[in-house]
Amino acid sequence: MLDFELYNPTKLVFGKGKIDKLASLVPVKAKILLAYGGGSIFKNGIYEQAIKNLAGFEVIEFGGIEANPHFETLMKAVEIVRDKKIDFILAVGGGSVIDGVKFISAAVLFEGNPIDILKKRILFKDLSKVIPFGTVLTLPATGTEMNSGAVVTIVATQEKLDFGGSAMFPKFSICDPTVIVSLPKRQLQNGVVDAYVHVLEQYLTYSHDGYLQDRISEGILQTLIQVGPSVVENPADYTLASNFMWSCTMALNGLIQKGVPSDWATHMIGHELTALYGIDHARTLAIIGPNLYRVMFETKKGKLAQYGKRIFNLTGSDDEIANEAINKTVGFFQTMGMKTKLSECTGDYTKTADFIVDRFEERGWKALGEKQNITLEKVKKIIEMSF
Ligand code: NZQ
Ligand code: ZN
Repeated sequence: MLDFELYNPTKLVFGKGKIDKLASLVPVKAKILLAYGGGSIFKNGIYEQAIKNLAGFEVIEFGGIEANPHFETLMKAVEIVRDKKIDFILAVGGGSVIDGVKFISAAVLFEGNPIDILKKRILFKDLSKVIPFGTVLTLPATGTEMNSGAVVTIVATQEKLDFGGSAMFPKFSICDPTVIVSLPKRQLQNGVVDAYVHVLEQYLTYSHDGYLQDRISEGILQTLIQVGPSVVENPADYTLASNFMWSCTMALNGLIQKGVPSDWATHMIGHELTALYGIDHARTLAIIGPNLYRVMFETKKGKLAQYGKRIFNLTGSDDEIANEAINKTVGFFQTMGMKTKLSECTGDYTKTADFIVDRFEERGWKALGEKQNITLEKVKKIIEMSF
């Protein structure tokens, strides 16, 4: 096992009606910016619950944070936080709103041009340099409610870039599984697949001796396979909703990544597809992931075979099992409503591979993956296989 340090200060408050705890979680006398997205919180009653529980606090609202949050929009909130001397931010929304709030939190006191937070991938470690924030999660998927990363889109250049650091954990996150009843089926499907691929990014690498990490990862995968297809049909079922929500958090709160290698190339390529074509984040992963496993077959064969045996009960030679495990993964994504080819999602894809490879080259991203052996040539092949 590799050496590791584990630090996760986020207080997770999980369960039905836990938004009632809001007043006790927000710092006393805080002046709060309540940040939200396109308005779903007004339709499903979450806004009302939040406001009711913040009675007595000074609250300023900032709405309109887009899915795949825009740097340009977030900068407007940064101005408000500076002008009004806000000292706490509350994100009420999905991954986009929460990531947007992480950016606002980091940008307010940033010395220099905040675009560099993304362009230069600044690490935030000093709590005195960020505005503290908490979250009310409305969409299980990303794990951002309990991690220290965020992804933001610069519209002007069509770039989707990430940043983070140990100062970027939420102070608290309220996770009430009943919030998922108002989610469109498409977003529920996205949530299951995003979380599933988060596990695969940290699990489908090469064989190692992190036995417990593997078993925890396999537990999350099995739970997502167990509840995924039914939770999208019955989001009001609390057993399904709570297992779904907790699996998503556990998939990317840092725990399963400790002491083991990780990949993340599927996400790096996927982010480009969202930036270029607006394809939902999870849907880009369903397109890229399986082809990446095919192209990187020799590197990943051992873990693919373990995955095939333990998750899908496959038998045969390791090569046969590993291959079939990829097919089973595609099958699961399709069961979850994913299209697994780029041509099914956009008509404008022929130059995609060259464009992304050029971009990666400019950024110096020439060796990706757990063994740094996903070269630009391989990136091109992975994308072209996805057409
Ligand atoms: O904007 P509103 O009106 O709130 O509507 C949203 C949005 O249209 C809606 N929604 C959210 N909760 C709802 C709801 N509708 C009805 N009822 C509810 N309870 O769902 C739509 C999608 O929301 P969004 O926040 O964009 O989805 P998600 O949570 O999947 O977040 C995706 C973003 O997170 C990033 C992605 O790249 C993408 O930008 N990621 C962040 C990660 C992280 N910080 O660790 C890791 C992930 O890999 C991912 O990259
Ligand atoms: Zn993801």
